[in-house]
Amino acid sequence: MYCVRKVTEELYWVGANDRRLALFENIHPIPRGVSYNAYLLRDEKTVLFDTVDWSACRQLIENVEHLLEGRPLDYLVINHMEPDHGASIEEILLRWPDVKIISTEKAFLFMHQFGFHTDSHECITVKEGDTFSFGGHTVTFIAAPMVHWPEAMVTFDTTNGVLFAADAFGSFGALDGRLFNDEVNFDRDWIDDARRYYTNIVGKYGPHVQKLLGKAAGILDQIRFICPLHGPVWRSDMGYLIDKYDHWSRYEPEEKGVLIAYASMYGNTEAAAGALAARLAEKGVTNIAMYDVSNTHVSYLISESFRLSHIVLASVTYNLGIYPVMHNFLMDMKALNLQNRTFAIIENGSWACKSGDLMQKFIDEQLKNMTVLNERLSLASSLKADKAAELDALADAIVESLNK
Ligand SMILES: Cc1cc2nc3c(=O)[nH]c(=O)nc-3n(C[C@H](O)[C@H](O)[C@H](O)COP(=O)(O)O)c2cc1C
Ligand SMILES: [Fe+2]
Ligand SMILES: [Fe+2]
Repeated sequence: MYCVRKVTEELYWVGANDRRLALFENIHPIPRGVSYNAYLLRDEKTVLFDTVDWSACRQLIENVEHLLEGRPLDYLVINHMEPDHGASIEEILLRWPDVKIISTEKAFLFMHQFGFHTDSHECITVKEGDTFSFGGHTVTFIAAPMVHWPEAMVTFDTTNGVLFAADAFGSFGALDGRLFNDEVNFDRDWIDDARRYYTNIVGKYGPHVQKLLGKAAGILDQIRFICPLHGPVWRSDMGYLIDKYDHWSRYEPEEKGVLIAYASMYGNTEAAAGALAARLAEKGVTNIAMYDVSNTHVSYLISESFRLSHIVLASVTYNLGIYPVMHNFLMDMKALNLQNRTFAIIENGSWACKSGDLMQKFIDEQLKNMTVLNERLSLASSLKADKAAELDALADAIVESLNK
């Protein structure tokens, strides 16, 4: 059965959901699933904007066939050919052999590399600023390199103000029939998955996202719909989402608050982290998020690090090193380019405590524009009452820094 939604006059969502996939990119858990969005324009010519993952291909075909009502598919615009969107290109070409493909030079190269057989089809290569008319609708192509692949572009329909945004403005989470941002409670039900999607998938490429936002700013008054390749379509309150993207891509925190990430085997470092959290709350800090790095997937930790201004790392020493899972979190912060945060450190060891110095060194030498508070809490196996003043001093330092 087809399953489509009308976006605006002549334009339809023809994508599909995957609620079975456990790991996006085989690495990020997606307990709420994911949607692969594609869009069909029924103008004088018929145009499909992007395709879907292989797992969703049959649904896409049913949707497109239903809306074409026997008409041929004239054009296939590929904004982003990564296989979660491009895997069904070949099936589209097989079913509609006369379809003409519009994409960037690099995307055509990648299609060839991946073995999507485009050779016997008319391929129209477009670049920044090119325009194309499908009859009533004229679109402009805007390069979006490294958001988050080099071949990516976005397409703007100047006729109806629809921005086909590729992976920009997307989110994890399957759609439940509700397609538009104003049909869901985005700030309650979607923002965490949108942030986790952005920060882990696109986070490294902040400067490139800033460039794209700069280009979007030039046409902001004309944008009526943002149609991303994952998650809800935006038709109102776009300032909300653009503001989030602006913060994330500049590596500025959204909120003043404290992420406490702890690594603990026997529970003593965890207890110290808990004691600090309670002190902070007592001193009036209520925006606190506390996670055990061992049972929290690092994609969630990264997402929270992008949200909050302050990060407390509490780690045991492990074979003269940082606890491996904490080390992995630090490596991910580096990989995703996180910047402009204030850190506090709690370390623990029973015979040669090293984790504090090593975490400080990592932050100082491997991360950019970070501050580490001087007040460090060092435990010899467990936090004793004689350290109450040090714990208090650490909490005070965090509060003072938050109030700056
Ligand atoms: C595999 C392993 C390696 C460890 N390596 C060190 C070490 O190199 N230096 C050290 O001081 N303590 C080391 N420890 C001890 C723990 O860091 C220490 O007992 C700590 O207090 C445990 O805190 P927890 O109760 O939060 O797990 C190691 C423990 C384990 C299990
Ligand atoms: Fe992608
Ligand atoms: Fe994607």
